[in-house]
Amino acid sequence: MDRMIIRGGAPLSGVVGVSGSKNATLPILMAALLTDEPIAIRNVPRLRDVRTALDLLSRLGVDSRWTGDHEIELKASRVTSHEAPYDLVKTMRASFFVLGPLLARTGSARVSTPGGCAIGARPVNLHIAGLRSLGAKIQLRAGYVEAHCDGLRGARIWLDNPSVGATENILMAAVRARGRTTIENAAREPEVQDLAKCLGAMGAKISGAGTHVIEIEGVDKLHSAQHTVIPDRIEAGSLMIAAAITGGDVTLSNASADHLEAVSAKLREAGVTVRTENGGIRVSTSGALKPVEVRTLPYPGFPTDLQAQMMALLTQAVGTSVITETIFENRFMHAPELLRMGADIVMKGPTAVVRGMSRLQGAPVMATDLRASMGLIIAGLAAENSTEVSRVYHLDRGYEALDNKLSALGARVERISERLQ
Ligand code: UD1
Repeated sequence: MDRMIIRGGAPLSGVVGVSGSKNATLPILMAALLTDEPIAIRNVPRLRDVRTALDLLSRLGVDSRWTGDHEIELKASRVTSHEAPYDLVKTMRASFFVLGPLLARTGSARVSTPGGCAIGARPVNLHIAGLRSLGAKIQLRAGYVEAHCDGLRGARIWLDNPSVGATENILMAAVRARGRTTIENAAREPEVQDLAKCLGAMGAKISGAGTHVIEIEGVDKLHSAQHTVIPDRIEAGSLMIAAAITGGDVTLSNASADHLEAVSAKLREAGVTVRTENGGIRVSTSGALKPVEVRTLPYPGFPTDLQAQMMALLTQAVGTSVITETIFENRFMHAPELLRMGADIVMKGPTAVVRGMSRLQGAPVMATDLRASMGLIIAGLAAENSTEVSRVYHLDRGYEALDNKLSALGARVERISERLQ
């Protein structure tokens, strides 16, 4: 298991490129199941989760090959299995997204339920209810969702909450259902919009992606397409916060400012200068950080996937900040680790009160999930002495070449591989 050693205190500066979005890429890879023609995807990040998705697709009979550093071609000429096994779904919840496309393509799917994870219970009831509305017969047996259908039919589906995954799963099934589907209270996240754009390029008829009501007119067949994945707004936001905590001056060369409005607004409120320059985003800090209130919300609100990073930043504000997590019930796992570094945080239910200006001290800390790991690295960038973050494999799931990117910006970051010890 690799570890990351961070020696804090170096302001980050320079220009850095943002990789393609992990959360957009994963469902788009699964969408290749919907056609027997080739799908070419560009700007695909080289991440552990992408490898897991390709592994799963290969077990289902989908051929994939890298045609460039960040380009993949997928072809599902034949689907030879309809099972997503527990060993893959447990390592990556997004494996569950094959349920909708497998059903639409083959009329049958057996997909392990993901179960809870470090950040909460994360049920899949909305995915299942939505697919049932489209006419799928679904049973839960021995930890698996077993689904069958004799052709899917369009339906009106109301989501109890705007789940990203449920919206994507239902969307991928509905594009090949007979007739019209309406998803109400749909997720508006840019990753949903990107999936809809890719499906549109494949011949699907979708309108309203990016709003709360998505309409889909089913088609018999989807075809070959090319698609370029959007930049990763969570990686971009993480680098913005890293720049801010070090008092640095960093330009993200290809981030999408539109997707980061809530984050930029909160950083500005905290006293950080955020400017859009030549198609990039420039973040710089001079002077003290101010405390803010942060409430995580579905898009376009402040993303839960940047809450840990923001908490690390607010340990350095002059005054008391309040963070309320409304998306996941157990997403403060990074807070006890920040306390070990000298932060002053009190948690009560979904709220964390962060008293600022803590003198953070480097310490051995343990990452518990992908975004928590990034929060600890950001704290390490501002801490005295060395911080050692273990279980870096969480980071590899979602941040491409993070140590190289941070080093290029002047951070003193070293990755230690177990085999070198
Ligand atoms: C996706 C993102 C994840 C992000 C999250 C929220 C991917 C691969 N992952 O996860 O990084 O943190 O959106 O922005 O895109 N819920 C139910 N029933 C369901 C489905 C969800 O109750 O059937 C609840 C969840 O427990 C959670 C909330 O809805 O409390 C939002 O979850 P959801 O939007 O579905 O997140 P994911 O798609 O799992």
